[in-house]
Amino acid sequence: MRLPRPVVLAGAGLSILLAGCGGPQSALNPQGPAAGEIALLWWVLFAISGAVTLVVFACLGWALFRPRRLPDERRTESPRLFLTLGVAIPAVILIGTFGFSLRSIIRTSTPPAPPAIRVQVTGHQWWWEVRYVLPQPSFVTANELHLPLGEPVRLDLIGADVIHSFWVPELQKKTDMVPGRINSSWIEADQSGDFRGQCAEYCGTQHGHMALQVVAQPVPDFQTWLAQQQSPAVSPTDSTGRGLQVFASAGCIGCHSIRYGAGAVGGAIGPDLTHLASRETIAAGELANNRGDLGGWIVNSQAIKPGNAMPPIAI
Ligand code: CUA
Repeated sequence: MRLPRPVVLAGAGLSILLAGCGGPQSALNPQGPAAGEIALLWWVLFAISGAVTLVVFACLGWALFRPRRLPDERRTESPRLFLTLGVAIPAVILIGTFGFSLRSIIRTSTPPAPPAIRVQVTGHQWWWEVRYVLPQPSFVTANELHLPLGEPVRLDLIGADVIHSFWVPELQKKTDMVPGRINSSWIEADQSGDFRGQCAEYCGTQHGHMALQVVAQPVPDFQTWLAQQQSPAVSPTDSTGRGLQVFASAGCIGCHSIRYGAGAVGGAIGPDLTHLASRETIAAGELANNRGDLGGWIVNSQAIKPGNAMPPIAI
């Protein structure tokens, strides 16, 4: 059966429209105060645009299909009609929506309370370095940002190599991460759960595979996580000592570091691997953090995420 073209076009348009309404990365599914403001702005603009579109098409229909007048009946319309329809009404709508956008910008820029927690997030090709600066002692993790429920967290956003963009659609607007400067933002979740963030600025071949996992937890759970991350990894015993040996001898230590015992060992080029086992994903959301995926990633990460900075490691 062939559908008429307008029906096909309307269907395609509607499905594009509805595709934005759900899924794990929808700005129309706000889970925090800032995202709530953005969703409200979206719906207000949608309602106004929808109403304007309906009125314009009604006018167009009336102009096209009204009964024709004879030439001698032609008359000049009053200029007041044009001034009202063409100038006054659009001006009121544009100034009103501009004012409403300013309100959203202010409300999404200012946290509801001064944040007690401060996190520096650095975008790398193609992963996220997450440094908890406050409360002390500070520590570094990767690709996972934990938040206490209902509390704003201050974010200092930096680009390490090229411009990236921090975006967790269900929680906050996009903020660019530019090399050489610090862009500040804040984030708060009102619902516990996992929220997906995604780099929103094209930053190279694996831009699409640069996901951030945001975990919003009730305050006691967050405090437990924080205390665990702040403490160093347990010093290796006989059974785990082999892992540390391979870590040092296979070259991992040149780029990754681990805090254990009294200090830290390793380089700071790649993600810090202290408490790696506590993370749900590896490779910036690309793989689940299990033994098989981790092994495959170490042996040849280039087959999974070509162009990343880690060379194949023969163990
Ligand atoms: Cu980082 Cu796109």
